Amino acid sequence: MNPILTRLGLADHDPQLLHDRRGTTLYRAGDTAVKITSGLMAGREGEILRVLGAEPYRDHGWDGERSWLALRWIDGISLWDALDPAHQDVTPATRHRILTKVGAAVRALADLHAVGWTHGDLQPDHIIFEGDTTHLIDLACAQGPADVPFYVHRGGLAHTTAPEIATAILTSDDHVATTPQADIWSLGASLWWSWTRTTPIAYTDPAARRPQLLADVAAARRADLTSTRPWPFPQLEELIMACLAADPGSRPTAKELASRFPRA
Ligand SMILES: Nc1ncnc2c1ncn2[C@@H]1O[C@H](COP(=O)(O)OP(=O)(O)OP(=O)(O)O)[C@@H](O)[C@H]1O
Ligand SMILES: [Mg+2]
Repeated sequence: MNPILTRLGLADHDPQLLHDRRGTTLYRAGDTAVKITSGLMAGREGEILRVLGAEPYRDHGWDGERSWLALRWIDGISLWDALDPAHQDVTPATRHRILTKVGAAVRALADLHAVGWTHGDLQPDHIIFEGDTTHLIDLACAQGPADVPFYVHRGGLAHTTAPEIATAILTSDDHVATTPQADIWSLGASLWWSWTRTTPIAYTDPAARRPQLLADVAAARRADLTSTRPWPFPQLEELIMACLAADPGSRPTAKELASRFPRA
């Protein structure tokens, strides 16, 4: 039994190991999710969630070289899964349901940006819909106006990274500052990927290592949406393309996008 789970009194709650990769271990024990990372990232995420007053936050702490974060288990579906019905049919009802979800995701990002924070690693699995609530999860890389532990940010998942962030990563070894505009690209990339099931960048070699993938991102080698989508979905695609403007200043803000979606 992991000693952190024992300390949290979760050993008797049938803890299930959900994943153990890249220095992160994630357990579910009853209605609690516990994330344990080597280094400070889980603890950093806990500090951020506490500052933000995020409801799923329960507790976090430090344990030698590791840190941990306890959250309420979110019983919802990811953006990726939420777009599934859009692949089944083209009925107005399905499209309305999908656009309602997209609107909820956009509002969640607008709320985060409104309090001065950027997510820094938005991807299809980091947006979770639970009833009427939309959660942006995995805020470990978030940047904002609070004194949380510093780490040198070198970008998130390549597939959803904005070109200007990819350029910053490739041209210097310094800490990379995230921006709301880069989050908007990541949102557009997450929507493109969830909609077409292929990434928005046409990689020179999809099996290449991260620097080569980032070089293609930096060059904004955009794939062809019309040949990868199941069928046209104009309202969704117009929003995606606006988010994927090469010039960060030309991308809509999350607040502007939110105003296009009246609350359901
Ligand atoms: N509180 C929660 N409730 C439900 N599911 C969760 C919760 N926290 C995390 N998950 C699930 O675990 C996955 C991994 O969590 P998270 O993204 O925070 O960790 P990670 O180490 O960054 O993983 P990855 O490397 O896959 O991004 C999420 O995509 C989500 O499916
Ligand atoms: Mg994650």
